[in-house]
Amino acid sequence: MRDKRNLSRVFIVAIAATILFACRHNLDDLINGGPGNGGGTPPVVTNCSPDSVYFVNEIMPLISSNCTMSGCHDNITHADGVNLTTYTRIMQYVVAGNAGNSKLYKVIIKTNGDRMPPPPMPAFTTEQKAKIEKWINQGAKNNSCTGSCDTTVFTYSGAVKNIMSGKCAGCHNPSNLGGNVDLSTYNAVKASALNGSLYGSIAHQPGYSAMPKNAAKLSDCEIRQVQKWVNAGALNN
Ligand code: HEC
Repeated sequence: MRDKRNLSRVFIVAIAATILFACRHNLDDLINGGPGNGGGTPPVVTNCSPDSVYFVNEIMPLISSNCTMSGCHDNITHADGVNLTTYTRIMQYVVAGNAGNSKLYKVIIKTNGDRMPPPPMPAFTTEQKAKIEKWINQGAKNNSCTGSCDTTVFTYSGAVKNIMSGKCAGCHNPSNLGGNVDLSTYNAVKASALNGSLYGSIAHQPGYSAMPKNAAKLSDCEIRQVQKWVNAGALNN
């Protein structure tokens, strides 16, 4: 009797360990860069063209920081049955080439309480909405580009602000203060820069939570831009 019970306990522990391992594995893929599109088919990588919008560089980070945080459209909660953690899943809400008919676009341009991200979260900015619209109208490709980042550009307005608003502020604004950290204004970003946590978190230094949370690490070039800006005094330049 007792043996039987022990045996079933061992069995349950083994199953739990397998599940845990499988989940961690996915998470690690995601955190350690994977293809940067949430997993699945790798994106097509080309040199950056200023006329194109790239899924891995701009769209996935916007969605990871505004839609797939815990309690929303992540693997665990999938609020309203919607899971937006990978390119393939996102494409369930996109009609390639037709933003106007794409649920993903329609919900972000709503002006009532049904809009996404839902109030009191800030709405996407006009520029961010236009990015998503353009990416869909250009065919909603699973694409990625290299070569658009320049480490000699490291001003707040020329580099840091864009990284913050595209990849961080959705989880770090007054109505969604991840870790009690605000990165939605210059003064707030400066505070994190000066206490060391901004660089520590994006460089994945020991002692800091690795950021962006549950998403691909920033590129070496982006990390360097932030580092140079911090070292130069985190100016509002
Ligand atoms: C999906 C939501 C999410 C995204 C995206 C995100 N963060 Fe965070 N961040 C959090 C949460 C939640 C915490 C609290 C610690 C934790 O849970 O790991 C946090 C903590 C932090 C901290 C405090 C770290 C420490 O150890 O003191 C900093 C700094 C930070 N984030 C910066 C950033 C930056 C910079 C980006 C963009 C490159 C970013 N975060 C993107 C959710 C996010």
